[in-house]
Amino acid sequence: MPFVVKPSASSGAPAAPRPVTAAQVRRDFNDLRAVVHYTKAAHELGLWASERIMLERVLPSPPAAGFPILEAGCGAGRVSVALHGLGYRRLTGFDFARELVDQAVFLAAERRAEITFHHADATRLDTHPAFARGAPASPPPFSACLFLFNGLMQIPLRRNRRRALRQLAAVCRPGAPLLFTTHDRDHSPAERASWRLEARRWAAGKQDPRLREFGDRRFEDHCGDTFMHLPDRAEILADLAATGWTRQEDHLRRELTKESAAVRAFSDECRFWVARRA
Ligand SMILES: C[S@@+](CC[C@H](N)C(=O)[O-])C[C@H]1O[C@@H](n2cnc3c(N)ncnc32)[C@H](O)[C@@H]1O
Repeated sequence: MPFVVKPSASSGAPAAPRPVTAAQVRRDFNDLRAVVHYTKAAHELGLWASERIMLERVLPSPPAAGFPILEAGCGAGRVSVALHGLGYRRLTGFDFARELVDQAVFLAAERRAEITFHHADATRLDTHPAFARGAPASPPPFSACLFLFNGLMQIPLRRNRRRALRQLAAVCRPGAPLLFTTHDRDHSPAERASWRLEARRWAAGKQDPRLREFGDRRFEDHCGDTFMHLPDRAEILADLAATGWTRQEDHLRRELTKESAAVRAFSDECRFWVARRA
């Protein structure tokens, strides 16, 4: 008897695109294309020149014993493994994409870097055995926290990004720096013009139905599907103030240094933020 593909009950009109969820973002990062992309960067690219400049401002130099550092959204270990290579110890990284955490563990083993990696969600640290306050395995408060290459902005919905900021504050000691990056909707005239157009789409209700807040973007390229929220500066200032962080400094990347062609191919312009745990 020939094999027959039956039409599914719901066939007919194509399904309406769904708004992006955290589960979808996690699937995007576990996708093979993304895993290869971030793993290659962790093995070959290492720290950007601008990251080095900002890390030198927030971390003790030379590296101090007794200075635990937390890296949120560590991906395949690009930043944590490079920090270990610079002499930093007591490094803990976490990411909510298990495939990337596995790659970070492999890379650290290959480089003989003793780093603790966890599979954890920045918006739910309080339920994770390694981070929940009072849990048997919970670490002492961290002395610094990193969330580099825009990972915080890949959390859909502002309330969830604020939740992540609060959760990170809860595992850091008072005064601890938080170094992170975001895009900036105002970073160039062309960018501003494109957001003016996007604002008109939202006003007319004609925005991409997968997007949930103004500033969101969803795009596909060689590393798969990506969700990103692009804030303006005022949004981040308000979010920090609302979540237990005091802004200390912020700079567009191009104000810090000119990056190599390899770094510019990996990542576009961003804003570096340093905040202190209140
Ligand atoms: C652009 S990638 C950067 C990865 C790595 N930090 C690097 O620079 O190569 C952003 C990372 O943030 C992670 N991420 C996004 N939302 C997260 C969440 N809620 N909790 C933990 N990690 C998250 C993603 O899985 C991804 O690995």
